[in-house]
Amino acid sequence: VHSHLEESIRPYIDLIDTLRSIGIHKDLSLPTVVVIGDQSSGKSSVLEALSGIALPRGSGIVTRCPLELRLKKVTGGVKWKAVLSYRKKRIELVDSSIFASPLNVSGQLRSGKVAHSVYDEKKFEFEDPSEVEERVKAAQNELAGKGVGIRNELITLEIMSPDVCDLTLIDLPGIARVPVKGQPQDIGDQIKNLIMTFIKKEETINMVVVPCNTDITTTEALKMAQEVDPEGKRTIAILTKPDLIDKGTEKNILAVVHNKVIPLRKGYIMVKCRGQQQINDEIPLEEAEQMEKDFFQNHDYYRGLLTENRATIKGLAVRLTHILVDHIKKSLPQLDDNVKKMLWDAKNELNECEEGPPQDPKGAKQFLIMILKKFNDRINSLSTGDLIIKENL
Ligand code: GDP
Ligand code: NA
Ligand code: MG
Repeated sequence: VHSHLEESIRPYIDLIDTLRSIGIHKDLSLPTVVVIGDQSSGKSSVLEALSGIALPRGSGIVTRCPLELRLKKVTGGVKWKAVLSYRKKRIELVDSSIFASPLNVSGQLRSGKVAHSVYDEKKFEFEDPSEVEERVKAAQNELAGKGVGIRNELITLEIMSPDVCDLTLIDLPGIARVPVKGQPQDIGDQIKNLIMTFIKKEETINMVVVPCNTDITTTEALKMAQEVDPEGKRTIAILTKPDLIDKGTEKNILAVVHNKVIPLRKGYIMVKCRGQQQINDEIPLEEAEQMEKDFFQNHDYYRGLLTENRATIKGLAVRLTHILVDHIKKSLPQLDDNVKKMLWDAKNELNECEEGPPQDPKGAKQFLIMILKKFNDRINSLSTGDLIIKENL
């Protein structure tokens, strides 16, 4: 049954990853799972447990750039391999004379420097899983500076291993309520804007992480998800830290998981990840998985969630994969439409282009003169501040 499930899922995930790898996501939005929630709600911990990959996590703002985690299940010898990549923006000063026309009638080239952004592509390949945390941190420091700032630039971490499930997930900085020392006053808004750019896309599945030991009804991330997805078609909520629950509130939380408080079409799932002490003690993820199972099996209120498929990281992985595949299937017709529309636009643009030079030498020469004249007029009108240029070169 398991391998059959995989067989039916893989083609969709592969299709999306292939489209992404040729850069099509710059024009079209592709389905992805995005993790949102308050700072320290457990987002990175959930991703870590789902993926088996040790990510930077802890108290305070740890995730400072969006991190795209592309998990690929591979068979045939590959043990574990990772590729970390990102683009670093750099401002370069270039001589403005390269923008001036050699045919400028005044004969004067403008001099001086103009700012121009350049992107350096960074790429690191490695085969030791224990390097992930440090490498992600180093990339974040390079993009967002050392400290507590955030940046919108995406860091991509592709992991190929026989032990992961096929998923692409994006970890985002957590929502901060009050700025800490060194953060701008509007850090909260900055983070919310960043989150919005990801979750508003119709093709995104929003995984909202909410700790059990907070007031779930006032969760900002849940409100944001509901705002962009009022019908709850693409929102799933993860309840974390059930081991830290306030005694006496177990039943209230159970009602939430049973979808009776804030109903979500895709529902809730409860997970228990490693606490800070267990991270400090370097409890391996496999052991943590067993501890999670034991926790639910021995819990007076929550053991029933196991059979209802409303608990554990494993249950979440299965549910997520199904949601993702479902979502991809549904967005395929839309993707197809978008591709057709882009093709149509490109063809029209092509039709509007002028014909090339005539074949005979005399005609070709006249054609060249005409093009040069047009070019010169255009440059002149630019330098005289005439902004409206109607004709195409
Ligand atoms: P993020 O800021 O949302 O990414 O949160 P992190 O994943 O970095 O987790 C914040 C802190 O909560 C870390 O110290 C984790 O060890 C801890 N934590 C996460 N999940 C659980 C859980 O289920 N139980 C307990 N006790 N602690 C957890
Ligand atoms: Na954190
Ligand atoms: Mg985090």
